[in-house]
Amino acid sequence: MKEKHREGLMEEKRLFFPPTGFSSKAVMRNPEIHELGRDRTKFWDEQGKRLDWFKPWDTVLEWSHPFAKWYVGGTLNAAYNCLDRHLEGARRNKAALIFEGELGDRRVLTYQDLYREVSQFANVLKSFGVEKGDRVTIYMPMIPEAVIAMLACARIGAPHCVVFGGFSAEALRDRVLDAQAKVVVTSDGSFRRGNIIPLKESVDQALKNVTCVKKVIVVQRTGQPVDMQEERDMWYHEVIKNVSIVCPAEPMDADDMLFILYTSGTTGKPKGVVHTVGGYMVGVSTTHEWVFDVKEEDVYWCTADVGWITGHSYLVYGPLSNGATVFMYEGAPDYPEKDRYWEIIERYKVTILYTAPTAIRTFMKWGESYPLGRDLSSLRLLGSVGEPINPEAWMWYYKYIGGERCPIVDTWWQTETGMIMMTPVPGITPLKPGSCTIPFPGVHIEIVDHMGTPVPKGEGGYLVVREPWPAMLKTVYGDDKRYEDTYWSQFTGVYFTGDEAKWDEDGYFWVIGRVDDVINVSGHRIGTAEVEGALVDHPSVAEAACVGRTHEVKGQAVFAFVSLKEGIVIGDELIDELKAHVVLKIGSLARPDDIFLTAELPKTRSGKIMRRLLKDIAEGRAMGDTSTLADVAVINFLKKNIDAQK
Ligand code: WT7
Repeated sequence: MKEKHREGLMEEKRLFFPPTGFSSKAVMRNPEIHELGRDRTKFWDEQGKRLDWFKPWDTVLEWSHPFAKWYVGGTLNAAYNCLDRHLEGARRNKAALIFEGELGDRRVLTYQDLYREVSQFANVLKSFGVEKGDRVTIYMPMIPEAVIAMLACARIGAPHCVVFGGFSAEALRDRVLDAQAKVVVTSDGSFRRGNIIPLKESVDQALKNVTCVKKVIVVQRTGQPVDMQEERDMWYHEVIKNVSIVCPAEPMDADDMLFILYTSGTTGKPKGVVHTVGGYMVGVSTTHEWVFDVKEEDVYWCTADVGWITGHSYLVYGPLSNGATVFMYEGAPDYPEKDRYWEIIERYKVTILYTAPTAIRTFMKWGESYPLGRDLSSLRLLGSVGEPINPEAWMWYYKYIGGERCPIVDTWWQTETGMIMMTPVPGITPLKPGSCTIPFPGVHIEIVDHMGTPVPKGEGGYLVVREPWPAMLKTVYGDDKRYEDTYWSQFTGVYFTGDEAKWDEDGYFWVIGRVDDVINVSGHRIGTAEVEGALVDHPSVAEAACVGRTHEVKGQAVFAFVSLKEGIVIGDELIDELKAHVVLKIGSLARPDDIFLTAELPKTRSGKIMRRLLKDIAEGRAMGDTSTLADVAVINFLKKNIDAQK
């Protein structure tokens, strides 16, 4: 179970205290805040007041296990909280979004600008028949229109389903169908490392014989020629012309759906994680302000794509609800040079940077000369998310990016939790490199053994959430049973995260990683079953089994074991073809690093593939117990051949 890179973790003894200048000015500097958070209902009742409500709530929480309703009786609108309420005072002309494209094009939208464009696009959606409750799929590059489309949906109460632009046409199709989307918003293409990714082309493929989608709205980004299907397809810049800038924000029940976001689980079918308006907005707004210590004059940069939960919570809803200035970048970190991020920080005087360990490890590999060549003195706080950060990467981030003056907030959370759950509060919490420290105030996390009993300090087990929290998922879209089965049935009464963790004598948490069939590749969640499904879909493949293997930069990489149908000739071209097939079915993020072709997969006598042993082999470590295998020769053959290749 234990990952190589997380061994010996709790021996990390270095402790970093918040710099005095930082603490004395921090937004949250009350050391008793965690204590106050113990009265969870009172705490979240209090935090609810940070939003603007059309009608206040009657009851902060109705808990009918495992279904929670937060801020019951209250009505509000997420877009109103991100836009309208900032228009009264000095924030009206403050930059809401500062955008830079990969080719260097720049755009600044003030809160007033964003409000205007969101209202107009909301009216466009309405004119195409989108009503409260209808789903809209957004398949876009990292450009302001992606944010505009999300907020326009929120404004009229149409849940958005953002699909990451790196997903293939087939993956997009599955998600459009599951959500039964009425409209798709996309662009002609997107820029990536100087190339053009043809998004509209993927949409066209995805929508073949799909009847639920009535309109496709296309933003012109790259300018390459695209097919426009008459009646169905419209250019964004044409439909938005002369549209009214007045569009009242729809009052939504706190428990109404704000969005669906698909994520991988243990089966081949991605889950539509449903988030609601009230609890989600309170959760992301509170955590964003306190964890990132956001002040009026900050320039906040979250490098995550809007296609992931981090983009939803900490690029859009958290920061904009707090009236922050958000920086948004479209392209790759090494285009045109490997110092693009540092050039951006220097140019815009970014003060807060939120990125992923895999990016940090990549920068480490490129070397410190790139950050050292730029002025990063504007930075005052750094964040990390998506996977465990190894102490070495933490120290590098601290030294070369933060200049040894910026606290690092290592934030643990999930698509399902909606908001950050474990994190330092930077003005208060001393930091340990590699630990996400302690739960956020008002969040009750525990580590339990396989019986569900909490383990004492100094020990490890399964990471669970004991009590409901405001930004928790409401359900899996259209499948309450899957919601109950996936999250609430492993251990009685608690939410199971799928992660393994330890806590040390000081009560600090050290997340080790997933214990279910999810692989975390560069902070992206990939289900082994999805990759296996894609492989088995290839005409030459009989069976496939995938496991995660520790990878120096990506955290984990996909390692696939594949058995072929009778008569298929093993060859290198076939391996490339299989990799390409996975890219076609899911997207390049799921491409296996290694595929090993074998006559047979190791199985138990009852026919179950023994992934545990395959994992041992992929990691190149000693194999565990093989006594339940039907034929031990199969695994010995695999081990010998794979070890020989290394
Ligand atoms: C899984 C959730 C939350 C946004 C990005 C990922 C892992 C996430 C950390 C962290 C150790 C982390 C966990 C979790 N994870 N953040 N700071 N330290 N592990 O969201 O795709 O829903 O994946 O990412 O394994 O379960 P996600």
